[in-house]
Amino acid sequence: MTSKHEPTKQFVTGGAGFIGSHLVERLLAEGNTVTVYDNLSTGQTERIKGLLGKDEFTFVEADLLDNATLKSAMSGHDFVWHLGANTDILGGGQDVDLDIKNCTLATHNVLEAMRTHGISRLIFSSTSALYGDPPVYPAPENAGPLRPISLYGAAKLACEGLVSAYCHLFGVQAWMFRFANVVGARMDHGVIFDFIQKLKRNPSELEIWADGQGQKPFFLVEDCIEGMFCAYRNTDDWCDVFNLGTGTTTRIDNIAEIVIEEMGLTDVDIKYTGGRRGFPGDVPKLLLDLTKMKRLGWQASHTSDEAVRIAARRLLGKSDLGSDNG
Ligand SMILES: NC(=O)c1ccc[n+]([C@@H]2O[C@H](COP(=O)([O-])OP(=O)(O)OC[C@H]3O[C@@H](n4cnc5c(N)ncnc54)[C@H](O)[C@@H]3O)[C@@H](O)[C@H]2O)c1
Repeated sequence: MTSKHEPTKQFVTGGAGFIGSHLVERLLAEGNTVTVYDNLSTGQTERIKGLLGKDEFTFVEADLLDNATLKSAMSGHDFVWHLGANTDILGGGQDVDLDIKNCTLATHNVLEAMRTHGISRLIFSSTSALYGDPPVYPAPENAGPLRPISLYGAAKLACEGLVSAYCHLFGVQAWMFRFANVVGARMDHGVIFDFIQKLKRNPSELEIWADGQGQKPFFLVEDCIEGMFCAYRNTDDWCDVFNLGTGTTTRIDNIAEIVIEEMGLTDVDIKYTGGRRGFPGDVPKLLLDLTKMKRLGWQASHTSDEAVRIAARRLLGKSDLGSDNG
């Protein structure tokens, strides 16, 4: 087995996605060889186009539900980052197969392909959505019982169960990460992106789902990736799970204010659809206990408010902070 710092052959599912494409850049910068496996359902080749044609990079456009292709593509790799998943939580409540197939079955297929090839190391992107309305606030990794309120959260919880069983039965070693809201450049979903799109269409009005009082932690994609590296490099349990986020939150109303300000708009008429939840399955209030990651020396580089502003600026083509014009 290679040491944790040695460049190696990395297999990244969902590598054409928002977080995955940032991860791939980091892996290549550290001297690894990387294969991205993605069906482009929400991924975009645009995000990895600068990498296409490089000797150390391979892109396989294929579905995680296609077992034969997945097994053959994974051959020869020694490390798997499994980020591929349905990420349309709202859509998953309407097309009820979406999450069970693209999260749970897909994860089973990834684990089976790993078992076939004797690949032991796995990083899995789980989600804070599996806490549902958290039983404890802030929610630590051992909070329970876990009662997800979306099919996405439920499917990811099932994924964690499968990963744990494969660790116990088949010698897989896994680091699982329950992300809060990850934000940054190249995002094409989430509240910041949605507000910007709405305001581009109509700069004088913004519809906010629910009552605007929801409060969640937002953190930057590079902090998310750094957090995964930090836990992987500094821990060695056979199967472990870590919350990743910030200890601060941003109210949905404040996100609207920040986006409006960064777009240079005034007199925007804000309308609320009402109710607590933005949509069925939405968790309006979240805070994660980050003690475990803090003990490893990791914490997000920005508060949630700052991360929201930076992400909005990046989406608008501005530099991170300051008084520039682009
Ligand atoms: N962005 C967040 O705030 C956040 C929060 C919690 C957890 N996560 C998790 O992080 C991971 C990455 O999320 P993201 O925000 O980059 O979303 P994303 O939608 O940009 O990335 C997901 C990628 O998976 C690919 N994919 C989906 N189903 C597939 C399938 N059946 N076969 C092959 N590829 C498939 C998509 O094409 C896409 O490129 C996901 O597992 C998500 O659940 C993200």
